[in-house]
Amino acid sequence: MRPATTLLRVAFYLSGDPFMNYNPFMTVNNRLMMGEYAVSDLARTYQTPLYLMDEALIRSKMRTLKKIESQAHLKVECMYASKAFLNLAMAHVVKEEGLSLDVVSGGELYTAIKAQFPPERIYFHGNNKSPQELQMALDYQVGTIVLDNPYEVETILACQPKHPVTVMLRVNPELHHIDTHAYITTGHHDSKFGMSLLDNETEELIKRLTHDERFNLKGLHVHLGSQIQDIKTFLEAVEVLLGYYRHLNQSEKIALPWLNLGGGFGVAYTEHDQVLDLEFALPQIIAAVESMCLNKQVPLEKLLFEPGRSLVANAGITVYEVQAIKSTPSGKQYVFVDGSMADHIRTALYQAKYEAALVDRMDEPKSKVLTIAGKACESGDILIHDLKLPEPKVHDYICVFTTGAYHYSMSSNYNRLTRPAVIFVNQSELRVVNERESYEDLLAKDRL
Ligand code: LLP
Repeated sequence: MRPATTLLRVAFYLSGDPFMNYNPFMTVNNRLMMGEYAVSDLARTYQTPLYLMDEALIRSKMRTLKKIESQAHLKVECMYASKAFLNLAMAHVVKEEGLSLDVVSGGELYTAIKAQFPPERIYFHGNNKSPQELQMALDYQVGTIVLDNPYEVETILACQPKHPVTVMLRVNPELHHIDTHAYITTGHHDSKFGMSLLDNETEELIKRLTHDERFNLKGLHVHLGSQIQDIKTFLEAVEVLLGYYRHLNQSEKIALPWLNLGGGFGVAYTEHDQVLDLEFALPQIIAAVESMCLNKQVPLEKLLFEPGRSLVANAGITVYEVQAIKSTPSGKQYVFVDGSMADHIRTALYQAKYEAALVDRMDEPKSKVLTIAGKACESGDILIHDLKLPEPKVHDYICVFTTGAYHYSMSSNYNRLTRPAVIFVNQSELRVVNERESYEDLLAKDRL
């Protein structure tokens, strides 16, 4: 089965389809595969719940970004927003594939440094970096600090940096029609992130940073929100920002060489989701920036992007075992799995929707409408509402698709549940990149 599967898989990648679909994986003899492994074999060997990540798919998406960078006239730099999913192995993959890295905390920074990620390719984001985190960024010689507010300027100065600090400034372009969940939209003036372009204080800060030799202000940064499905949102932001660059140029003689458009490219969680495919969206945005730079006479040196979700979400699945099936008097059918909102919080937090499958019964008709519920003591601990599946049986393995982003990274020990293991699968290679947590791990920091 191996050589045939590999060939099919390569053809599947080349078709472009995997990037448009919530399920980029092969089915062989009714069984869902990841790389050359049947998912249920992995579940049996490594136990459930289990996070599986297709490393080959992640790497292929990163290579697509590198190709886009190399084809652009303008210098383009893509980084991976590590909040979507980070551990040592992931930082190592990003390093090997040559992308830069966005970190937002001392913990993410520490992970990157321990994975020997080149510090000059790190961008340190966040709306409330502590003095310790900023000191750490200076000590590790992080390439760029993305400032959020004037307090961070003072905090950096209090650290007495020995060299000029390369910074960008996060701003809000005041777009109000971003089509995503309210909790993950950011580009408006009441957002907790960045400074409004409508606020005079923003321009004052830009002038100050430009004229203070302890800083090297490279440009502005925006992140419009997450799971954005319409390219127009990015194009509007480009229009607003390059207009602002032109204004700074003309009225203040300030020429900012870099522009960072953030991440937020939407992925497919279900067949109803519109995908903002990087391979399609980035070249269009880059072309729009190039032509607007010419029209507005804004001499940009570098354009940056920082996708997180769109590089990893579809590469990940979570595998559970069905442990019980229960009907309510009104006929609602619950399928109880051995995980919970502790490893899958996005449904409870954002009303996110997902698809799932019985991994050894892929070709069977989906004759039932079911609710997949977890084991946490919480009514909101539902993983998927109203999902169509074949009639499940106890001990079936079920996988939830599109869990590579913001699942492991948002997992918790609620109810003192232990976090699942994470496995990277790269065709025939497989490695455990996070061990399953044990009860001892839960007590490791407890003191009587
Ligand atoms: N850059 C900045 C400054 C960000 O704040 C984020 C995400 C990204 C890039 C990457 O965005 P992405 O390409 O992954 O959409 N927990 C939420 C998402 C929060 C995103 C926070 N910032 C979720 O599960 O949907």
